[in-house]
Amino acid sequence: MPQFSNLTVVNHPLLAHSLTILRDRDTSTEAFRRHSAIVSRLLLMAATSNIGLEDKEIVTPLTPATGQQIADRVVLVPVLRAGLAMLNAAQEFMPWASVGFIGLERDEKTAVASTYYRKFPQGLAGREVIVVDPMLATGGSLIDTLDALKKQGATALRAVVIVAAPEGVTRLEAAYPDVPVVTAALDSHLDEHRYIVPGLGDFGDRYFET
Ligand code: PRP
Ligand code: URA
Repeated sequence: MPQFSNLTVVNHPLLAHSLTILRDRDTSTEAFRRHSAIVSRLLLMAATSNIGLEDKEIVTPLTPATGQQIADRVVLVPVLRAGLAMLNAAQEFMPWASVGFIGLERDEKTAVASTYYRKFPQGLAGREVIVVDPMLATGGSLIDTLDALKKQGATALRAVVIVAAPEGVTRLEAAYPDVPVVTAALDSHLDEHRYIVPGLGDFGDRYFET
């Protein structure tokens, strides 16, 4: 298996279990949605393990105490449409995060993505920007997203994907060696249609039932 310096493959029994359900072509839409949420949460927990905290003085029912709260101003950026699956899961435990959107769609023949929507929060510089997109295949969509966020002033970027292909990670590492990527799996290769093998098929179509 190739080694990538910017890639973290998260190993956890719950993740392995849910990822297998996502990969199985016989999984129902309902189960696909449920396990997408589980995988997204576990990956986001790993991807945010080093975000900044600050002390917070509180009073418990018994006594004053020093607690902690998130200090970094996090921005989640789902890549539409499939990234919405991960945003839903993220918002359940990161309701304080801002959200920016980018809409990209791969051409079915060329696999080149084009942008159809973009809306980011103001003042991205210095904020922790986390791009979420289930599939990193050729890397085109993620690189376009990072380009757009950089152009808008983002300085601290990371990405969370459910399945990555070596071709996409190689391209991403060349373009953005400073952007860490967290994934549940580094798969074998892309097929002739630039789908990830073994992969899980078209994530957006399976999640949204299109
Ligand atoms: C999928 C996926 C990524 C992209 C990855 O989106 O969600 O955004 O393909 O492929 P790449 O690395 O080769 O760019 P798709 O274009 O199918 O759109 P969707 O999210 O609307 O289903
Ligand atoms: N997009 C998907 O949804 N799946 C792939 O395998 C590649 C791109």
